[in-house]
Amino acid sequence: MRGNDVTLDNVSITYPNGFRAVHPTDLTVQAGEFFSILGPSGCGKTTILRAVSGFIEPSGGRVLIGGQDMVGIGPNARPTALIFQNLALFPLMKIWENVAFGLEARGLSRRARRARAEKLLDLVALGDQADKTPSELSGGQRQRVAIARALAVEPAVLLLDEPLSALDLKLRQHMRAELRAIQRQTGVTFIYITHDQGEALTMSDRIAVMNEGRIEQVGTGDEVYSAPATAFAASFVGEANRIDGRVVAVNGDLAEIDTALGRFRARNPIDLGAGDAAMLFVRPEAMRLGHTENGLSARLMRRDLEGAFLNLFFDAQGIELAVHVTNDGQVAIPADGAAEIGFPSGRAVILPAGPLARTGQEMVA
Ligand SMILES: Nc1ncnc2c1ncn2[C@@H]1O[C@H](COP(=O)(O)OP(=O)(O)OP(=O)(O)O)[C@@H](O)[C@H]1O
Ligand SMILES: [Mg+2]
Repeated sequence: MRGNDVTLDNVSITYPNGFRAVHPTDLTVQAGEFFSILGPSGCGKTTILRAVSGFIEPSGGRVLIGGQDMVGIGPNARPTALIFQNLALFPLMKIWENVAFGLEARGLSRRARRARAEKLLDLVALGDQADKTPSELSGGQRQRVAIARALAVEPAVLLLDEPLSALDLKLRQHMRAELRAIQRQTGVTFIYITHDQGEALTMSDRIAVMNEGRIEQVGTGDEVYSAPATAFAASFVGEANRIDGRVVAVNGDLAEIDTALGRFRARNPIDLGAGDAAMLFVRPEAMRLGHTENGLSARLMRRDLEGAFLNLFFDAQGIELAVHVTNDGQVAIPADGAAEIGFPSGRAVILPAGPLARTGQEMVA
């Protein structure tokens, strides 16, 4: 099996009722890449996948797979396979027959189909389960059968639409590693859809962060986490403290922002200028206790001990600021909770004021 690249060239998608689910989008997924599309419920993830798999045609622009324009090519003729959130195996068929299902139409003999199914079952570590039926397998095992079945038709691109969301947390985490290993072994291009940032961060070569029909940022997990490009990306991926304000000065790569808590200096990746409405974001683990650069006065409201880490929650004039520190026995805060906290300029980012992720959004199934 070999992966193909997938390109969206100015693709927009409007449903028949006039709702524009995807605004004009350019995106290239590299051949053999594990690529995730991450965004909240309703942002347009499945819609993009439907256009790649051929179940809907874009209203504008082109989908190319392996450099070939897919216009007018139906789902069955595309080099793609799709795995849905609610997978359906055939309950009365044996596991190997489920895997081999798509091969009968290709005129393969029963013996050849069985051999191919066994190879794929080995790949998903179910080689000894070929003669069972789906009801005799666990949820995670059934999910792996679905993956083997999708791979049986030798797709160049595997499209996975929240394939783990029906599984419990422990199994989900286990399956992350399994999926990643299967992708590496096969070299098939994976486009993986999820609203779970943990899944996207742990499995993907690159991630597209999507909101309300637009891809707001594409990058590695590290890039998206450490250098978010929009207020939405900063608030959707990982935890972030936010302080609103207005840019007052720019010097080099840094900008200064005036806020209710004082004037702070931070990175300015989007090249905001003086006068622009802005939001400063800083991760809890980038916050420091004591008198530091970008210091401010705050009051400790709550402390959560996480063993090796301490999560401290401060109030600064009504703004909640989280500070995560290692639990090294050195954390000393006066009884009244008053403390100075701050952050290094290089670990904070100033972005255009804009829509934020709703809290708890990632929990919406
Ligand atoms: N057939 C349709 N006709 C009209 N609007 C639709 C149709 N299908 C989806 N939509 C709308 O398009 C938007 C995007 O839907 P889509 O299914 O792509 O979201 P999603 O990101 O996959 O969400 P989820 O995480 O909940 O699966 C939603 O607002 C949805 O209501
Ligand atoms: Mg969806």
